[in-house]
Amino acid sequence: MKQSHFERRLAACYDELKWLYTELYGDTPCFQALLDSMRSFAEARRPALQALDLEREADPGWYRRSDMLGMMLYTEQFAGRLSGIEERIPYLKELRVRYLHLMPLLKMPEEENDGGYAVSDFRQVDGRIGTMEELSRLADVCRAEGMSICLDFIVNHTSDEHEWAVRAKKGEPAYQARYLCFDTYDIPAEYEKTVPQVFPNTAPGNFIFCKEMGKYVLSSFNPYQWDINYKNPAVFHEMAENLLYLANVGIEIFRIDAVPYLWKELGTSCRNLPQVHTVMRMLRMIAKAVCPAVVFKGEVVMAPREVAPYFGPVDKPECDILYNVTTMVCIWNSLATRDVTLLKWQMETMDALPPEFTFVNYVRCHDDIGWGLEERSVEYLGADPLEHKKFLYHFYTGDYPGSFARGELYNYDPVTQDARSCGTCASLCGVEAALEAGDEGLLETAIRRHLMIHAYIASLSGIPVIYSGDEIAQLNDWQYREDPVKAMDSRFIHRGKLDWARAAGRHDRSSVQGRVFTGLQEIIRLRAENPVFSAGAREHTLETGDRAVLAFQREGGGQVLAAAYNFCEQPRRISLALEGDYRDLFTGQAYCGGALELAPYQALWLLRS
Ligand code: GLC
Repeated sequence: MKQSHFERRLAACYDELKWLYTELYGDTPCFQALLDSMRSFAEARRPALQALDLEREADPGWYRRSDMLGMMLYTEQFAGRLSGIEERIPYLKELRVRYLHLMPLLKMPEEENDGGYAVSDFRQVDGRIGTMEELSRLADVCRAEGMSICLDFIVNHTSDEHEWAVRAKKGEPAYQARYLCFDTYDIPAEYEKTVPQVFPNTAPGNFIFCKEMGKYVLSSFNPYQWDINYKNPAVFHEMAENLLYLANVGIEIFRIDAVPYLWKELGTSCRNLPQVHTVMRMLRMIAKAVCPAVVFKGEVVMAPREVAPYFGPVDKPECDILYNVTTMVCIWNSLATRDVTLLKWQMETMDALPPEFTFVNYVRCHDDIGWGLEERSVEYLGADPLEHKKFLYHFYTGDYPGSFARGELYNYDPVTQDARSCGTCASLCGVEAALEAGDEGLLETAIRRHLMIHAYIASLSGIPVIYSGDEIAQLNDWQYREDPVKAMDSRFIHRGKLDWARAAGRHDRSSVQGRVFTGLQEIIRLRAENPVFSAGAREHTLETGDRAVLAFQREGGGQVLAAAYNFCEQPRRISLALEGDYRDLFTGQAYCGGALELAPYQALWLLRS
């Protein structure tokens, strides 16, 4: 009999999968149960998805081309319910969105749920957002339009209303064994000595005491998010099955949430442990055997040297895509300091990585901006790291003299004086303050700033992702402070409802939203049409002799591009060591060597003729 595609794919990874499985869970019949379950998911996969599997096996770089562009949004804030998104597909297509990251929408607790990152049922859509059938239908409709749906897969924890937690609370030992529960505080106290806190201000400590159970439970994020125990093979199995279930619904990209946290060992920081990589590698093999159309986008918000290992070795890959978090932070640092030195170093670090690695490049997302700059590099610039961090977070609340930004502090820790920043891209770029001041000059500058950083991320190697609302320069939603469920979490300042009345003016070039929207459309079109922007192009920074201007060159797809960005409000004159004749893709202006003028916050994309 002809071998099925599943058997073929499984055969290719069987030995390694078994080896890793045995390393974590020993030699147990559970492994066979896992294989049986994978087989049944493979058989249940719809013909359209099976066809996609074959297509993508033949074209594994499908998500790395220059026309790839993501948008992330909250279904409720964008369109009310899942069914509403379908009507908005034409809007998304105006921006050439190719993958749509729907923020968490699975069943979650009624009130506090960490923006949906507390999942009560991995196989049910939250009733306020829609149904699983609607999600599946939307995935099909989007696929037909050339758009992939991306969903979070929250691997580290469940909500305390998930069936496992409910049964654990009722005293069932098998379910208590799916979490990390302790009768006394002795062991939790030991953990607390080495495990840092995720939300020191809004959810201090790593444990909660659960009265129903009479036990301490590890909850590294919020008290209602219980960390699950991957030392228990039942946990691994069910989570793998949940992933396959969602893949069969039609999800094509999984954002694997909070990856570094998923394995815990006493006496460690419980971050980035080797077993995390074993679990990720196994999940990847399982997915590639059952549903190879699927790709993994890992959320690893860590220092740069800790991020890249999540791609795994080239012959044993883990994530397909990772977030370029440090670049995002360096962009905001450069805007505040008008100095691109750290951003340039970060680019050089990224450019030294293998071209097979694919990063998501973004300026804003649903989370805060954590000022995790490499201390060494800040020190090198002659700045004290803590003082520099304080400058940044004050700058982005707007209370630093001369700051153009409007935003909020996030999780200020009075002990370490650490804090992060929140706000929409437009408000952090100065649009809100300029409108407040009624100053057309400042407004123009703020819009240029907003567009320039988007041009920058669109020109980097990887996939640009726009945070919904930024395309129309949506401002901070200060109303969150009035909502008792949200008031404690300032991230809600940049999670407001999409203002469709504002969006209606997006084609009017005299409005703020029109200038931003059409500007972004132009950036996206130029990127899509020029193969030099595909992932894998060779990239290196250029000397500009000016700390406010960043320049680099890309070579790929038969094209050569030199890009330059002015990170300050004064015009700059630089010279670049370039050979040949160039033409700016934005203005059509020719450049044949010599001095180069950049207007305030101008982005130049010089294509070699
Ligand atoms: C990720 C999410 C964040 C959430 C956390 C816990 O970091 O981006 O919003 O709070 O995971 O799930």
